[in-house]
Amino acid sequence: MNNKAIITSALPYANGEIHLGHVASTYLPADITTRFLKLKGVEAYYICASDDFGTPILIQAEKEKKDPANYVKFWNKRDLEDFIAFGIKFDFFYRTSSPENIEFVQNVFKKLCENGHIYEKEIIQFYCKFDKKFLPDRYVIGRCPYCKAEDQYSDLCEKCGRVPTEIENPRCSICKNIPVKEKTKHYFFKLTNFVKDLNQWLEENPHLQKDVKKYVQNWIRDGLVDWDITRDISWGVSIPEPEAKGKVFYGWFDNHLAYISSTIKFLNEKGIDGIKFWNSADIYHFIGKDIVYHHYLFLPAMRIGIKKEYKLPDYIPTRGHLMLQAKKISKSRNWYIGLKEFLNLYPADYLRFYLTSITPYRQDDLNFDWDEFSAKINSELIGNVGNFVNRSLGFTQKNHAGVVPAEDQLDEIDRDVKDKITNFAGQLGELMEQNHHDRAIKKILEFSAHFNQYFQRKEPWKNGPGTKSCVYIAVNAVRSLSIGLFPFLPESAGKIWSQLNMQGKVSDQKWESISEFGVKPDHRIGDVFPLFKKVEDADIQKYKAKLGSS
Ligand code: 2FM
Ligand code: ZN
Repeated sequence: MNNKAIITSALPYANGEIHLGHVASTYLPADITTRFLKLKGVEAYYICASDDFGTPILIQAEKEKKDPANYVKFWNKRDLEDFIAFGIKFDFFYRTSSPENIEFVQNVFKKLCENGHIYEKEIIQFYCKFDKKFLPDRYVIGRCPYCKAEDQYSDLCEKCGRVPTEIENPRCSICKNIPVKEKTKHYFFKLTNFVKDLNQWLEENPHLQKDVKKYVQNWIRDGLVDWDITRDISWGVSIPEPEAKGKVFYGWFDNHLAYISSTIKFLNEKGIDGIKFWNSADIYHFIGKDIVYHHYLFLPAMRIGIKKEYKLPDYIPTRGHLMLQAKKISKSRNWYIGLKEFLNLYPADYLRFYLTSITPYRQDDLNFDWDEFSAKINSELIGNVGNFVNRSLGFTQKNHAGVVPAEDQLDEIDRDVKDKITNFAGQLGELMEQNHHDRAIKKILEFSAHFNQYFQRKEPWKNGPGTKSCVYIAVNAVRSLSIGLFPFLPESAGKIWSQLNMQGKVSDQKWESISEFGVKPDHRIGDVFPLFKKVEDADIQKYKAKLGSS
């Protein structure tokens, strides 16, 4: 394992609130991985930024009659607040509209020009005579030429994930009229220059997901098209060429460069050589499956195009879309749950637990289901983990005056569960390194269930021989659980740590120490209280009924 890592997650558009659909596939898994790597002793930094430019922002700001600069400032702040409330701990959260990113983007463009990867071409663009403007990207909706899905944006089909060359049956997304075509001069990035390099990178990088890699290779086989990186709109990074006045870069040209520019700024300000760090670290970009094309083709090609001055990603963990009660999330139909709204109902750790347990390391779609949420929280989180922690610490408090006894005698069963602790760091760590967070949570539940059974079987309340060993082992298992749970449920792990009355913070522990017996005899534990509160069915039915109503 590399001792340095940079972790990013897809930059949220600064045009609306974060909802459950955003967090399951990207922000939460990236946060879990970062917390895990830090426990492993890796110098890991989680970097993110708001995605401030491009048509998605401008359209929304125009709809709300707001100035785009103020608009993105508002959402940058609000999104960060919501992330923090959800326990997402960025080391740095910046913005694509930062002066550092603008300068960086313009420099990358110049280098791509010098290296022969950019050309100019006059093109025909959709133009709306009613709105009197060119209509790039989301300003045009129509039918995807590949999969024939209706109502897709002209720059991305959400159904098949491809970038249409020309959308069929186009309409202006503002006024719904049919646009006309007008001439305009644009810059193109020669994606076709990179077929060989991209194939080689896909072939040689051992960490890319096999299923995703396969269909990216198919896209390449079907033929890549050069990429129009200019937009005739006012909001974006301006193109550093005198003849390009009034034109800006396409949002997907500048946004991912903020992964790098934000990292460099953050590290340089810490006194670390940012470029050197980037190039010697493992690079992770966590994404949802809708932006595979951009991260597996545009992004690596641009880095190759500037002679790999900045290392290409090692990991692009890609997960599926979240559905809500088996229906596609839609803000316009009010079929979504805002993150902030959810966190007013339940603690962040409930959501972190549930989403992690239903989110595999694959591209399959996921489903948020209120009844399943309630069942999992009540039976697994509370009935299993909460119960084990509370009964072992409660018992120690009540029957041993809060002081952990030394082992008396050990039998086969004790030795067997002690082995479970000894092997836990390695077994759990392996799943974490492979990015299988859902399986890791399952492993934790198995561990906890096993110790629950152990406690039950040993009947320490009868105070027979071996009771002291049972209490000593159980309290140590609670300690292991606290560290193992930390990447997933940081707040609850901290509570367990303080109930154990351990020194320091759980976040400062070493992952390997999960397998140590770190609670020594004679240690006095702290106050014990239930970690979780049951989810009530009446509430769940209420929340379910509320969905979709405005
Ligand atoms: O699809 C989106 O939501 C984009 N804002 C993601 C941008 S990630 C990029 F910066 F690489
Ligand atoms: Zn129009």
